[in-house]
Amino acid sequence: MFGSVAKEILPEQLGVKREDLVVVSIMPCTAKKVEANRPEFANGKEKDVDYVLTTQELAAMIKQAGIKFENLTPESLDLPMGFKTGAGVIFGNSGGVSEAVLRYAYEKVNGVKLSSVEFSEVRSDDSIREAEISLNGTKVKMAIVSGLKNTKTLLNKIKSGESQFDIIEVMACPGGCIGGAGQPYIMEENTKKERTKGLYDSDKTLQLHKSQDNPYIQELYKNLLIEPNSHKAHKLLHTTYKNRKRILETELSVIDGSDSQKLEIKVCVGTNCYVKKSQKLIGQLIGYVEQKGLSNAVDVSATFCMEKCGEGPNVMIGDEHIGQCTFDKVVDVLNKKLKQVAVPAE
Ligand code: SF4
Ligand code: FES
Repeated sequence: MFGSVAKEILPEQLGVKREDLVVVSIMPCTAKKVEANRPEFANGKEKDVDYVLTTQELAAMIKQAGIKFENLTPESLDLPMGFKTGAGVIFGNSGGVSEAVLRYAYEKVNGVKLSSVEFSEVRSDDSIREAEISLNGTKVKMAIVSGLKNTKTLLNKIKSGESQFDIIEVMACPGGCIGGAGQPYIMEENTKKERTKGLYDSDKTLQLHKSQDNPYIQELYKNLLIEPNSHKAHKLLHTTYKNRKRILETELSVIDGSDSQKLEIKVCVGTNCYVKKSQKLIGQLIGYVEQKGLSNAVDVSATFCMEKCGEGPNVMIGDEHIGQCTFDKVVDVLNKKLKQVAVPAE
């Protein structure tokens, strides 16, 4: 959305040609690198977002350049697109999008100003949570879920008719973007909690907390989008989805060993691991297994997200997880495990 709107309004405001405007997105997410290349996110040949850097990559670049934040004079972000309200900030937490929607819907439906903007009903550490909010006498049932395994559990409940919701918020990463695969590696147990708290605290320190109060959003609607769901709003802010899984089932067998004590190897090809070259790793692994005559001794399968995206590419050999996996690491662990199960290796 930022990219498509920036390319629509900034050329005129900045006096640059549209084709000369370059949008670089700093993201918590490696999946955005793939997303930026989707044909739906382009105006003809021009991409909405030209480059995506993860927060991890940006931090590394800042360190490499020797920039010390304590020596910098604070500056505000460039306008108009640098202006933000708390509703935007909390998007990074699981439950944040729902809360931002409620801050808008409450005023729209009830026709009164919201005095307290915090909706504790949608805030919690639980990965699947349900909330019921009353909007002008109508009960709205909401579900908030983070992590793809939990999403599947929730979807199954909905499909079976066990649950029904009016609004469902899904965040692929556990806890939301604060736990995204592009974020700095999490070493401490409470890091995610602190990041979540950091976003809610940041919301408190801002002057405005609702998207509809952002003067630049108001101006954007007045001058360009006209109203929610207008043709222009659809063109710039909406997209469509289709199944893009590299594998259709949760697992795809690549080598199916026949030994009774065969070793299971699972390689994640979910988007984040794929971006970190897990597909190449599978190719190298297959080559190694064939070259060493181990085809009967192992089962190799490609799996969907293991929910450890930040550590990718991820591989499981038996019960051992290998994060930030390289071909050398796989071979090391594989040979160690094969010795343990005493499978004769050619
Ligand atoms: S929840 Fe994860 S996958 Fe989804 S946008 Fe945030 S970082 Fe990316
Ligand atoms: S994509 Fe999530 S663990 Fe591989």
